[in-house]
Amino acid sequence: MELMDLLILLAAALLVRLWWRYWSVTGGGSKNLPPGPPGWPLVGNLVQVLLQRRPFIYVVRDLRTKYGPIFTMQMGQRTLIIITSAQLIHEALVQKGPLFASRPADSPTRLLFSVGKCTINSAEYGPLWRTLRRNFVTELINPTRIKQCGWIREWAFDNHLKRIKKEALETGSVGVMTNCRLTICNILICICFGARISDARVKEIEAVLKDVMLMTTPKLPDFLPVFTPFFRRQLKEAKKLRRKQVECLVPLVRSRRAFVECEGNPTGDAAGWNEDIVSPIGAAYIDSLFKLEPSGRGKLGEEELVTLCSEVMNAGTDTSATAVEWALLHLVMDQDIQQKLYEEIVDSVGKDGKITEEDVEKMRYLGAIVKETFRRHPPSHFVLSHAATHETELGGYTIPADANVEFYTAWVTEDPSVWKEPGAFRPERFLDGDGVDVDVTGSRGVKMMPFGAGRRICPAMTLGTLHVHLLLARMVQAFKWVPAPDVPPDPTETFAFTVVMKNPLRAAILPR
Ligand code: HEM
Repeated sequence: MELMDLLILLAAALLVRLWWRYWSVTGGGSKNLPPGPPGWPLVGNLVQVLLQRRPFIYVVRDLRTKYGPIFTMQMGQRTLIIITSAQLIHEALVQKGPLFASRPADSPTRLLFSVGKCTINSAEYGPLWRTLRRNFVTELINPTRIKQCGWIREWAFDNHLKRIKKEALETGSVGVMTNCRLTICNILICICFGARISDARVKEIEAVLKDVMLMTTPKLPDFLPVFTPFFRRQLKEAKKLRRKQVECLVPLVRSRRAFVECEGNPTGDAAGWNEDIVSPIGAAYIDSLFKLEPSGRGKLGEEELVTLCSEVMNAGTDTSATAVEWALLHLVMDQDIQQKLYEEIVDSVGKDGKITEEDVEKMRYLGAIVKETFRRHPPSHFVLSHAATHETELGGYTIPADANVEFYTAWVTEDPSVWKEPGAFRPERFLDGDGVDVDVTGSRGVKMMPFGAGRRICPAMTLGTLHVHLLLARMVQAFKWVPAPDVPPDPTETFAFTVVMKNPLRAAILPR
């Protein structure tokens, strides 16, 4: 090789090196983004994350120790600003609430399932979100409506106890998560459509919704929209699943509409509703949606109605069932905690007394167990993705309007400077320790925030908590829960929409 060739080769290598260095820097620079792990040109940190072959929450947990309270990750074309400290989370979500209350852009697949962001959780901060959320809160979550739906919970929980007793007789133990999911989904279907349907049909709906959740978890085109045309097959499959979801739920929509139109009178001339319908007119969530006309959308069609009701089932099933499963794991592993809870229940309502909404509100130890479960096992380690309504500043850095702002909330409950022995499960801390007076809404400061904080806080916080309280209290009142002889409880975690047990809990039950 001649000297000239060698020089050209060296110069080329140097140029490649400089190009690589320039394009691989994440954050910082003239844009004043928070710093972050160096990535690769064009794809940023995307390939590094994929190569780790583990859930994103664990990647972020490790990066936090190096990059601290706020850092940037460049995931393909998407810029993610990750916020991990309690102070910055509070500043963004509460003090600067409206600024950080929007949602980022969605992929074509996600837009298909949200009918162009026509759900409370996906809508941008604006009039559509405000109309949908206000309607949800006044129609579904007001105290009168929660009380009015008491019979639905009672019916579903009675069924739940019969079902687990049967399963225990047949198999020797009980699958906690599957049973809790089924029961809670059943309640939410009844709240949405005013219909009481069979367990088999609920399982069918649940399976479709699970497939939808799988399909809408972030995939390559979410991060590299330029490659969307190469993922045509994926979009085709998504459309097929969407059709299945609509076909699965539209009969419930039509049946309820017919019931409302004939004013609940079976002799009326509007045919098409069936005996599954049990709630009076006005008592089902969908009744309010029939009348709703959000600005820019007009009257909602069947596609939107299916989507808005699916949102309720998706948002409320896994979150609550996960919490009950984790709580029960600790009660199975620590019989003293279970006995203390049982004594509280017996003191309040007796061995066979009916447990009401008012009763669980007064059970301090039950409340402490549920809070400790939310602290130790928050169903999600991030809240949903947020976005700034316009370019702004946080922690001295610029936050662009088109970035995903991700709040990693798990750290605030793991921080040993805030919680004594954060890894231990100690409900007592909420009675006389470091958990007393904790504000779970995060308004007065963030020590734990299982429901998020600020404008986008979970609007069904009270309902979700009520489901967890009542279900747990009923299960412990009816049976003593002990480890299944052949399947010992295993607290190893994994991520599946929520942070669940890698080996789902199976427990044996003994009569009380
Ligand atoms: C234990 C149960 C529950 C937990 C832990 C939980 C947690 C959460 C979290 C963390 C968020 C995201 C907040 C954010 O983005 O900042 C959220 C949003 C939401 N949740 Fe829940 N949730 C629960 C139960 C429910 C139930 C039962 C429903 C419906 C009946 C529901 C409906 C929603 C909706 C509609 C949103 C979107 C709010 C918005 O974007 O404005 N959740 N929830």
